[in-house]
This record gives sequence, C-alpha cells and structure tokens, in this order.
Amino acid sequence: MIRFEGVSYSYPDGHKVLDEIDLQIEEGTFTAITGDNGSGKSTLVRHMSGLLTPSKGTVSVCGMNTLDPSNLRKVRQLVGMVFQDPHSQAVGATVEEDVAFGPENLALEREEIRDRVFSSVLDVGMGGFEERLLMNLSGGQLQKTAIAGILAMRSEYLVFDEITSMLDHDSRSMMLDLVKKLNHMGKTVVYVTHHLEEVLAADRAIVMEGGSVAIDGSPANVFRELYSSGHSIPPLMELAIRLKDTGILENNVLPATVDELMEDLCRSM
Ligand SMILES: Nc1ncnc2c1ncn2[C@@H]1O[C@H](COP(=O)(O)OP(=O)(O)OP(=O)(O)O)[C@@H](O)[C@H]1O
Ligand SMILES: [Mg+2]
Repeated sequence: MIRFEGVSYSYPDGHKVLDEIDLQIEEGTFTAITGDNGSGKSTLVRHMSGLLTPSKGTVSVCGMNTLDPSNLRKVRQLVGMVFQDPHSQAVGATVEEDVAFGPENLALEREEIRDRVFSSVLDVGMGGFEERLLMNLSGGQLQKTAIAGILAMRSEYLVFDEITSMLDHDSRSMMLDLVKKLNHMGKTVVYVTHHLEEVLAADRAIVMEGGSVAIDGSPANVFRELYSSGHSIPPLMELAIRLKDTGILENNVLPATVDELMEDLCRSM
C-alpha cells in the first residue's frame, strides 16, 4: 500500500503545492488522477516513488517511510514511474539496452537481466524490437519501452504521469489497453490523465484541485459530481447521466463506449 498522511509540500521557492493530503493506494487497484493544469497531480505522484519527499506529513510505500534515505532505493524499485515525454526518459541506444538499464543497476546476473528484458518487452507488445534503435521508434513505442523498463525492475506499483498526452488517438487507446492489461496481471496502477474518458478504465478516480483532493470515488460518481458542479464532461457521459436521471437508462454503471451505451439502451427498452 502507498499511504499519504497529512502530506503538504512546498517547492524550494516557497510555492505550496500540496495541502494536507491523506490518501491510500491499495494493492492491485487502478486509480486515475485528473484535475486542471497546476492542480498538483505530478507533484503528488512524484511523492509516491520518493522523487519528492513531504515538507510535512509522511508518505510510506509498503510501510517504508520515504523520508528515511535508507528506504529510497527499495521504494524506487517498487514504484516505477513513466512520464509524459518519451524522449526525456530514454537511457539506452537500443530497446534492449534501455530496458536492461534498471535491472543492471540492481546488480543481477546477466542471464536474469536477459530474461527480464525479453519477458518485459514481450509484455508490452514489443517482442522482436529488442535490437531497434530508440531514435527510430514512434512516441508510442518509446512509451512502451519505458514501461518495459519498469516491468524489468519488477516494480509492483506503476505510476503513469500523462503518458498518452503526446500520442495520437489510436496510440492512446492502445496504451490504455496495455495499462489495463498490466493491472489485470496484478500490478497496482496510478494513472494521471487529462482525458476524462480515460478515467472510466479505472476503478477509482481522484480529482485534484489547488493541491487538495477535491473528489475521490468511483468514476461514475466522480463524473456525476463534476457534472452537477457545472464542469464539462465527455458528451457520452453527460448523455448517460441524463438518460439515467430521466429513468430511461437503468444500469448503474456508466457506459465507457457508444456500443456499451447502445447495449444499455436496448436492455432498458
Ligand atoms: N520545480 C518547481 N518549482 C516551483 N513550482 C513548481 C515546480 N514544479 C511545479 N511547480 C508548481 O506547482 C504547481 C503544481 O504543479 P504540478 O506539476 O504538480 O501540476 P499538475 O497538476 O501536474 O499540472 P499539469 O496538468 O500541467 O501537468 C504549479 O503551480 C506549478 O507551477
Ligand atoms: Mg503534471
């Protein structure tokens, strides 16, 4: 479990960004985090892997306090992060070199590193790309390589900070499918996104506002709260909520696609 207790954070310039955050991320769950630009999402998730440590309060990962420097190596192995810009996180020349970088730092046997690299590359759907040069990969393939890198580290918690924001629509939905698959494989997922429709893939949604958690609940409840407080939500969600409110739609789960909405409608008629 990742646990935030009374966490506040101010950047060195004195800018206070997180304010008294209490939060728990349970193992095996898929949590989406959304919110306006500057609401503190990246600052929050950087605390999960100990890249930032609280100015006040504590963050612990599997009971290890990130303020204790002797815990940081283990915490960073347990919590793998992938960021928005796929180019900024590449460390090797080829896919194989890049994915091997983390395990090499764990001082594992060569054979073990090779096994981990090949199985992780396969898990992200990049089998056969091991020898390819990173500079010849697309943005989506680079992001998959970065994900393979944290899988090869055997990270249990996968934290994604807007990994689809530089991808086109099709690559975005493929990437989200991969993230869902990793969650089904047992990984705990924290997924920061601006795309509200992606939130439906999660089993919990958190909306950040001005450095605090403004809404926390199931995606359906979060959409409902956002809608009733006047925020714009994806048209499909708005339509589903309005159909429910008028009693036309009976299903309690919000449809994630037009096909699902059609199915719900047919069932209700
Ligand atoms: N290194 C820094 N020094 C000072 N202030 C910072 C620093 N990094 C971020 N901030 C400020 O902290 C606030 C929250 O930033 P953060 O990056 O956590 O927001 P975010 O919700 O991830 O935004 P976005 O949606 O744009 O990625 C912003 O006001 C930002 O200007
Ligand atoms: Mg951010």
